[in-house]
Amino acid sequence: MIQTLEWTDQGIRFLDQTKLPTVETYVTCTTYQQVAEVIRNMVVRGAPAIGVAAAMGIALGANNSRAETVADLKQDFDQICRVMGETRPTAVNLFWAIRRMQEKFVTLCIRPIPQIKQALIEESRRMHAEDIAANQAMGRHGATLMPATGGVLTHCNAGALATAGYGTALGVIRAALEQGKRLHVYADETRPFLQGSRLTAWELMKDGIPTTVISDNMAGSMMRQGKINAIVVGADRVAANGDVANKIGTYTVAILAKEHGIPFYVAAPISTVDLDMHDGSGIPIEQRSRKEVTHIAGRQMVPDGVEVENPAFDVTPARLVTAIITERGIAKAPYEESLKRLAEEHTPVSR
Ligand code: MRU
Repeated sequence: MIQTLEWTDQGIRFLDQTKLPTVETYVTCTTYQQVAEVIRNMVVRGAPAIGVAAAMGIALGANNSRAETVADLKQDFDQICRVMGETRPTAVNLFWAIRRMQEKFVTLCIRPIPQIKQALIEESRRMHAEDIAANQAMGRHGATLMPATGGVLTHCNAGALATAGYGTALGVIRAALEQGKRLHVYADETRPFLQGSRLTAWELMKDGIPTTVISDNMAGSMMRQGKINAIVVGADRVAANGDVANKIGTYTVAILAKEHGIPFYVAAPISTVDLDMHDGSGIPIEQRSRKEVTHIAGRQMVPDGVEVENPAFDVTPARLVTAIITERGIAKAPYEESLKRLAEEHTPVSR
């Protein structure tokens, strides 16, 4: 399995996603500030991977702390959590992971410092393992929704590279193929950062999964030609009413799917569901640098001085979402009820 990120004795090792698909190279972070930087720079990206990276970054920062009392360690810990929380605003998994590490710290504060540090490392590694198990469970549920044969379109990268492993949307596709379904993946290139053409195509090719890359503006035409039988994407945040924030362009794909009568599925772990967010209108949308739009592979593509927008995500209204696939089962409308029911369930997920 692709190792997106991993705790090692030397530090946290990340597969550098900014260099893919041509160069496979790794970055090892030895401080929490470096981890925050690789999240911001998208060396590691994708909501669940951001969550696990932040948890490991917090454990790393706490482990490096020179505090001699638990109170001082707590001060350092709070500062580390603040820095992590300022990296990327849309993926709710980041805040979910920070909260989980904070809750863990509370249960540990009567212990000696070395034990606290060790337990935080173990908690972050547990989150890594749990994410893979959740994706495999999501895959099993979602595979039942995939056609026996045909084309499946995905947008951005919601694969092994966006998670601790296996993937959410691509996990569903992997599981369907493992069950003997015959799928061909259409990967939107996903301007401006090209997660589809660079990352989705890279990891699917590595697994020998039949894949065609299309530029984003080809999706409608492919649907009209009958080449797409289902769509499956990931999510950065799912509001309580089922509105879905995901990579910019997802909304356009959902509208096209509706027009062509194609099912539009979202695969996301329960950690991506934000029951405190009533609907998608309140989800903070990250604005990224204009250079991601103005330049491709370092070459300027627009005239000097032109205005540019670069919202990294959009919100797809729940009415366009056929079903939301989680590790605990499949949610259908009305999402207020189905998501709440799944989120409040506490069944452990096994591999
Ligand atoms: O900006 P990115 O690359 O972090 O955006 C990633 C996505 O939009 C993914 O679809 C989402 O995080 C789900 S990943 C399983």
